[in-house]
Amino acid sequence: MNVGFIGTGEIAEALIEGITGQGHKIYVSNRSNLRSQRLSEEYSEVIACENDEVCSSSDIIFICLMASVARDILPKLNFRTDHQIVSVMAHINRDELKSYCLPAKNVCITIPLPFVAKGGCPLPVYPHSDALKVLYGANNSIIVLESADHIAPHFVISAMLSPVFFLFDMASKWLGSKTGNDLQSEIYLTHLFKGYLDFMPDSERERFAAALHSLSTEGGLNSTLRAHMEEKGTYSALSDGLALLEKRLGIKS
Ligand SMILES: NC(=O)c1ccc[n+]([C@@H]2O[C@H](COP(=O)([O-])OP(=O)(O)OC[C@H]3O[C@@H](n4cnc5c(N)ncnc54)[C@H](OP(=O)(O)O)[C@@H]3O)[C@@H](O)[C@H]2O)c1
Repeated sequence: MNVGFIGTGEIAEALIEGITGQGHKIYVSNRSNLRSQRLSEEYSEVIACENDEVCSSSDIIFICLMASVARDILPKLNFRTDHQIVSVMAHINRDELKSYCLPAKNVCITIPLPFVAKGGCPLPVYPHSDALKVLYGANNSIIVLESADHIAPHFVISAMLSPVFFLFDMASKWLGSKTGNDLQSEIYLTHLFKGYLDFMPDSERERFAAALHSLSTEGGLNSTLRAHMEEKGTYSALSDGLALLEKRLGIKS
């Protein structure tokens, strides 16, 4: 397939690396010069060119721009009715995006993360997209959402990665300071959580509540730490933070 990327930033690079070596021709914006050059030098199927050529040469077009740039440049591009558009942008909803990509009607929004380059990335999408399925379905889990309104709340929850990794980093440094072995501490933390998460089947409901239940021995270390963090307002801070992002993305309550 001929696949285009408007915007060659961090997330575009990961998406491109996730589909190289599979027989596609990949057209990328001639921007982020070092990155687009490196990609075209490293992968023979990647061609760096102007946005107009990305559009005219591609069947599937990924929009990987910051919202303010997209509002400026998308209306000037010549989209076709047969284009399949996949946006990864957090701050432009589907109705607005469709208005910039006319006459293309096949427009979806998804949320890749940098590890889509390796696979194993959850890809919530609305609506179902053949393009996404063909390109990324074999190595990633595509989650088709029921409504366009469900995309923005998924963007909000994806923002939990940073505070959660901050906690992991803090915890592994604390452990390393006690053992003198930083790497082993990181390995322990990674496998501790991986162990729980890997064995949660997709069909399981209330999986987190069940894990919490098994970690709730009265007076135990886990329940003591959880109660302490609750008392200190950690969880209400999370609720407040989610509400803040909800407002920022214009999510209707
Ligand atoms: N990063 C993530 O993990 C992630 C995950 C999910 C969704 N997203 C979404 O993806 C979008 C891009 O994020 P990012 O992190 O990849 O940002 P980024 O690294 O800053 O990439 C933005 C790209 O847009 C390019 N650009 C600017 N003006 C352009 C123009 N006129 N024509 C073509 N390209 C132009 C920039 O090129 P220059 O460097 O030359 O200005 C840069 O390559 C955002 O809307 C974000 O919400 C990101």
